[in-house]
Amino acid sequence: MKKVLITGANGQLGRELVKTAPTSWDVAALTRQDLDICQHKKVEKTFSAIKPQVVINAAAYTAVDRAEDEPDKAFAVNAEGAGILAKVATEHNARFIHISTDFVFDGRQPFPYKPDDTPYPPGTYGKSKLEGERKVTRTAKGKAVVIRTSWLYSSYGNNFVKTILRLVKERDKLNVVDDQVGAPTWARGLAETLWKFVSRPELQGIYHWSDAGVASWYDFAMAIQEEAYHLGLISHVIPIYPIRSAQYPLKAPRPFYSVLDSSKTWEDLHITSMHWRVALRDCLKEFNRC
Ligand SMILES: NC(=O)c1ccc[n+]([C@@H]2O[C@H](COP(=O)([O-])OP(=O)(O)OC[C@H]3O[C@@H](n4cnc5c(N)ncnc54)[C@H](OP(=O)(O)O)[C@@H]3O)[C@@H](O)[C@H]2O)c1
Repeated sequence: MKKVLITGANGQLGRELVKTAPTSWDVAALTRQDLDICQHKKVEKTFSAIKPQVVINAAAYTAVDRAEDEPDKAFAVNAEGAGILAKVATEHNARFIHISTDFVFDGRQPFPYKPDDTPYPPGTYGKSKLEGERKVTRTAKGKAVVIRTSWLYSSYGNNFVKTILRLVKERDKLNVVDDQVGAPTWARGLAETLWKFVSRPELQGIYHWSDAGVASWYDFAMAIQEEAYHLGLISHVIPIYPIRSAQYPLKAPRPFYSVLDSSKTWEDLHITSMHWRVALRDCLKEFNRC
């Protein structure tokens, strides 16, 4: 049976990849404890032992604000680590599927970003991810696929959906920014799409994938509260007010508009994205009732 190696298997995406893995693949799902992608020798040993035909790199440093204070750590994982994996994968003739982010764009464009639009990351996290993309595509050449995604959430790990559900229970009102627009994306749908890429070895280059539609963080928070209330996950609702980013300063600058154009993925894989609100509802159905 053909083998696929998944790194960062304990993250949101890693866990969804394991959950959605087709039975036709033998999956080696390695957490950071099993394999630190920054340790070149360990990566080589792991490839020699597992001999994967495909690698999906779901490992990343994803703390967007903390990256401003510890850029070395962000670059070590998102750029150097990704480069090490791509190099070893290439030496072992394995295909390399890498995940990147909408935060490689500065958000000044008023319409969805296509894969070949020029990236210009506003913050350290985006810069480190862009450097990773470049290392991967340079090293693995025709055997690499880079899929950029946006505003990822799932029932696993830490994410905006879980934060809003917690804050609705703890607070009597909330302020959420309404001048940053993107596309919330359920990690389940991304994982299923990545498995489709696995089954299409001829595809290479940069692709975009997000759920369909757009939202501000405020729209997203309102939808989370409404859907969670209807599903009985929360017993009451609280007022949520729209504010400007300037009223809620964060360490890392973020793009104001980072909607990704996924049409190349839709065309090449013959699929479309679900609307983000439908995906949100499906995801929330999996949350435990409180
Ligand atoms: N989250 C988002 O909103 C978002 C948006 C756009 C793109 N993306 C991209 O989507 C991908 C998946 O993100 P995610 O949300 O699933 O991230 P996540 O939940 O933070 O998971 C990342 C995983 O990588 C692991 N990791 C960190 N450093 C590592 C290292 N040196 N070696 C091996 N594993 C390491 C982490 O381990 P620990 O569990 O031990 O920390 C964690 O399990 C990433 O490439 C990310 O950049 C995410």
